[in-house]
Amino acid sequence: MKVVMIGAGYVGLVTGACFSEFGFDVTCVDVDETKIKALENGEIPIYEPGLEELVANNCKAGRLTFSTSLAEAVPGADMVFIAVGTPSRRGDGFADLRYVYAAAEQVARNLTGYTTVVTKSTVPVGTGKEVARIVGKFAPVEAEWDVVSNPEFLREGAAIEDFMRPDRVVMGAESERAREQMRQLYRPLSLREVPMVFTDIVTAELIKYAANAFLATKITFINEISDLCEKTGADVQHVAKGIGLDGRIGGKFLHPGPGYGGSCFPKDTLALAYSARQYGAPLRIVEAVVEINDRRKLAMADRVIDALGGAQAARGKKVAVLGLTFKPGTDDMRESPALAIVPALMGAGVEARVFDPQGMDNAKAEIGTGPYYATSAYDALEGADCLAIVTEWNEFRALQLDRVKSLMTNPLMVDMRNIYVPEEMRAAGFTYYGIGRGYDGIVIPSDQVEAAE
Ligand code: UDX
Ligand code: UDX
Repeated sequence: MKVVMIGAGYVGLVTGACFSEFGFDVTCVDVDETKIKALENGEIPIYEPGLEELVANNCKAGRLTFSTSLAEAVPGADMVFIAVGTPSRRGDGFADLRYVYAAAEQVARNLTGYTTVVTKSTVPVGTGKEVARIVGKFAPVEAEWDVVSNPEFLREGAAIEDFMRPDRVVMGAESERAREQMRQLYRPLSLREVPMVFTDIVTAELIKYAANAFLATKITFINEISDLCEKTGADVQHVAKGIGLDGRIGGKFLHPGPGYGGSCFPKDTLALAYSARQYGAPLRIVEAVVEINDRRKLAMADRVIDALGGAQAARGKKVAVLGLTFKPGTDDMRESPALAIVPALMGAGVEARVFDPQGMDNAKAEIGTGPYYATSAYDALEGADCLAIVTEWNEFRALQLDRVKSLMTNPLMVDMRNIYVPEEMRAAGFTYYGIGRGYDGIVIPSDQVEAAE
């Protein structure tokens, strides 16, 4: 089968490369000529573990090619996937679908034999209907086609794994011919008994949003519980374990942190809340999740300032910020908590010394020249009055604490991802603040809790 993937970003490039790994002929098309040139030279414009090898192998096998022209790629294609960006413009959650619709029109104009047009991008409920209207309007009369919704559930940093071993494949397809086409495409996965969920287009679109909104809600729930832990002296890690062992709750996505980021949760929760209001069925829980998450990112900066002794004392102090990307395993800075935390610290007169293993270039583009961009974690720690861990990269999990202490003016750590153990940090002479680790981040052994009250 010949597959065209429109949009060679995090979603399109991974999905296209994985389909070519299945043995299909895939052409990834993108408007960004620089990106396509880089890919043709074997350079991968994004950081995603395993992607470079996957792309190289399939390019070498002649199954994976790149282009900037839909007019060249679409004729004769069996399936065309739309995986272009769906940025939320206007800040109120309106998902900007102009790229999706532009792609649909261009595909339509170049259709020849039967082609399945698949929306892979996360698109608001009802978009598939609009795509079908556009294709119907611009396709040659002799062209035969169907529109299908096939949302992605890829986590950045684990995208290839999530594609090759998904919990399920969701397909919104409304003709037997389209369903058969999708079965052929995903046959390698169905041979592994991966559940194939066939439904209609609207339902498939809502499944994607409901999944992301629920995951964002779960994270926000544990983040609020961790705030309560700090007031009650409870330990949120144990709360997460204690509730997560209930099969109905599940242990995943119960890690408290500085708030969720990324190109999906923030955009998708906003877009879902917005479109739900349009339909007259407001999702008040999701609206609360959006508001709580935004506030939490800024509150994290206040924690660092409090740890330094308050606004007055913090002025002129140096803070080493370890981790800038929205999660480890990616170079993606989209909606990262660091984009709120670092500017807020600098606004309070703090000198931010920042380091991230993969995200430095993207961080510079987003945050600008304000911070000192360190060459390593230890470089960032030079003369620092406080160490703030924002993203839980593995290399931050085992810092040499005696070296850290010798570099810092004051052994003070604000650990926003609980990658250290409070008792061990106190024993090593640090003033340690975690998230939800007992009173104000310091876990007081239970036999001393009474004394703290
Ligand atoms: C994005 C959203 O994050 C995701 O939720 C949605 O499902 C798909 O779009 P991602 O791959 O992360 O996924 O976006 P991005 O990395 O911005 O890549 C989008 C690509 O589409 C870019 O390479 C852009 O150049 C390309 N594009 C955009 C086109 O090829 N044509 C266009 O008209 C617009
Ligand atoms: C998410 C969904 O997981 C994926 O299914 C969907 O297709 C795209 O969006 P992604 O955004 O790549 O994937 O990353 P994810 O691992 O889900 O993390 C999202 C954010 O939540 C990150 O900022 C992460 O730090 C945060 N998070 C995640 C937590 O704070 N706590 C958790 O327990 C899990």
